[in-house]
Amino acid sequence: MAEPLRIGLAGLGTVGTGVVRLLETNHDLIAARAGRELKIVAVSARDRNRDRGIDLSGFAWEDDMANLAARGDVDVVVELVGGSDGPALELARKTLARGKALVTANKAMIAHHGLELAEAAEERDVALKFEAAVAGGIPVVKGLREGTSANALERIYGILNGTCNYILSTMEDTGADFAEVLADAQRLGYAEADPTFDIEGVDAAHKLAILAAIGFGARIDFEAVRATGITSVGAADIAQADALGYVIRLIAMADVEPGENGTPTLLQRVRPCLVSKEHPLSGVDGPTNAVVAEGNFSGRLLFQGAGAGEGPTASAVVADLIDIARDEVGAPFSIPVAQLKAMPPTESGHRIESTYIRFTVADRPGVLAEITAAMRDAGVSIESLIQKGRAEGGGDVLVAMVTHEGPERSVRAALELLDGSESLTAQPLVLPILRD
Ligand SMILES: NC(=O)c1ccc[n+]([C@@H]2O[C@H](COP(=O)([O-])OP(=O)(O)OC[C@H]3O[C@@H](n4cnc5c(N)ncnc54)[C@H](OP(=O)(O)O)[C@@H]3O)[C@@H](O)[C@H]2O)c1
Repeated sequence: MAEPLRIGLAGLGTVGTGVVRLLETNHDLIAARAGRELKIVAVSARDRNRDRGIDLSGFAWEDDMANLAARGDVDVVVELVGGSDGPALELARKTLARGKALVTANKAMIAHHGLELAEAAEERDVALKFEAAVAGGIPVVKGLREGTSANALERIYGILNGTCNYILSTMEDTGADFAEVLADAQRLGYAEADPTFDIEGVDAAHKLAILAAIGFGARIDFEAVRATGITSVGAADIAQADALGYVIRLIAMADVEPGENGTPTLLQRVRPCLVSKEHPLSGVDGPTNAVVAEGNFSGRLLFQGAGAGEGPTASAVVADLIDIARDEVGAPFSIPVAQLKAMPPTESGHRIESTYIRFTVADRPGVLAEITAAMRDAGVSIESLIQKGRAEGGGDVLVAMVTHEGPERSVRAALELLDGSESLTAQPLVLPILRD
């Protein structure tokens, strides 16, 4: 058997300890598949004395994780620390600059600095791999880089944040409101103490930017992702959606659309959407992730599984290490950075979609007429309208409607006409309906 692949491991938290356990538990099977042993030689974390429930006595310790890149006995560095910049980025740059391979689960770093790091890796012909950065244990990066590589992809979309999915599907099951379910999710460990990145859609946006770059051969452009989180979705919306035959899920979507003069543009959106109960994503509950990729020859593919957690994420990290042990390098984004297309973002408003709109209105005559007139004047055609119940806190009334398909900007124009109306007692909530 060839010489072992020698690993320097930075970060011994949830994922890092998972990697240590997995390499130990499946040692022989991994060596057989990789064609050589995968051996951790040195590790780093902040606190050397913390009990992590694993035996670290066989590994050298580095107080400064950047030193892992410089060690002569390390072939590949695994970065499992996190953060888009700071020590993780410094380690990544040093590792690649020394011509060593890098494996990371750090979606924020890849979303922000992926092109720079991929260029550095390509320059030295070393691997940069980040399967665990998107959808935890689901091999979706590999799926898009390899499995669908013969296809022109038409759309990539899915559920990329387990915390939001847990919250929305629990709201659906229990009828409880957002704040209550979030507090429970924090108690159960499904949501961080500071859940902002998750519930505001930033985490899903990081992952979407990575998938869009791979799937569409585009230069990664995180700044162009328009993200809306789930904080405005109320129990009443979930109930209305249910009555109309839908569930609500936070959907990340990338799609290529022709812009002015036919140039392709890239739409990257993270938004809560109504998903028909007939659609496979409607059954994705709890912290599960799922990604749909539609190829022009493969048809619709669905990748589904655990989007986070020690075991699934470690599984993705070690799969990358096995590729490296087999000398499978490849361009990190499937196409060399120099050939990735710079695709301008799709101008908002062009997209044709059907929309759910929830109004909170004063309980008085003439309100419905005012809303429907604004819709008519903006060219929005209403498919169904429900006026039901009182808003939370009493007093006001909820009016929910679903529009026929039409340009997104028409709905926006209708809401502008209603802006400042005394009939509306809260900001309307607009959720697109996921097209089949
Ligand atoms: N958790 C998941 O399910 C999951 C899923 C997919 C991707 N990821 C990604 O995987 C990465 C790691 O996540 P995690 O959940 O394992 O995080 P975590 O449990 O918070 O662990 C982070 C580790 O990094 C170490 N660390 C922090 N700052 C450091 C520094 N300056 N120098 C050396 N070590 C430092 C910490 O050391 P101490 O232990 O000594 O404090 C800890 O061991 C992140 O990029 C995350 O986005 C996580």
